[in-house]
Amino acid sequence: MTKDIIIREAKFEDIKYMTEINVRTWQYAFKGLIDQDYLDNLNIEERTKKWEELYLKRSPKTRYLVAEQDNKIVGFCNVGPDSDDNTGRVYSIYMDTQFMDKGIGTELLIKGLENLRGIGFKDAVVWTLANSSRSRNFYEKNGWISDGKMETITRDKISYDVIRYKKSLRS
Ligand SMILES: CC(C)(COP(=O)(O)OP(=O)(O)OC[C@H]1O[C@@H](n2cnc3c(N)ncnc32)[C@H](O)[C@@H]1OP(=O)(O)O)[C@@H](O)C(=O)NCCC(=O)NCCS
Repeated sequence: MTKDIIIREAKFEDIKYMTEINVRTWQYAFKGLIDQDYLDNLNIEERTKKWEELYLKRSPKTRYLVAEQDNKIVGFCNVGPDSDDNTGRVYSIYMDTQFMDKGIGTELLIKGLENLRGIGFKDAVVWTLANSSRSRNFYEKNGWISDGKMETITRDKISYDVIRYKKSLRS
């Protein structure tokens, strides 16, 4: 792993840095894949408020993890329950743009899955943008297999397709 990276649970004060990364990464990694007006108008303050509320009412089986270098958050991964007691879910995983492709996302994903396993989940799922080869390669490289299930997400009048990947947590 890249030198001096610490992965730890997020604190409330970290949320605003996580949403900054989330918006920056969407604008960079999903350019050409999602409506440009939508990307241009993503609002960090609005998203921060929403995520802070979600953080405060998170379930005890949810974990917000951040990767930190030199006291700066460079990526994060949120995991928690899916639809049944045996299945956990990777809700989101994002690296800040300058920190991609250094192996840190893989370390975050491993930690996220360790947490899900520790909570007692037997399987994990993730939904990812169907037309993002970066995201799909990332999961496939880490042993995730798509079951082909797709859904269309509609937000603020734009739509995009997501596809489901699965991984067993039984060792
Ligand atoms: C997906 C993401 C979390 C991976 O984290 P990362 O630290 O960049 O990834 P790692 O360095 O650990 O692993 C890199 C692997 O990801 C995939 N990948 C990374 N960049 C890629 C690119 N530009 N094109 C295709 N595949 C790519 C490859 O499989 C790559 O392995 P390789 O370099 O050996 O070929 C990060 O790139 C990111 O935040 N992307 C944008 C947001 C996103 O797609 N999140 C996941 C969907 S919820």
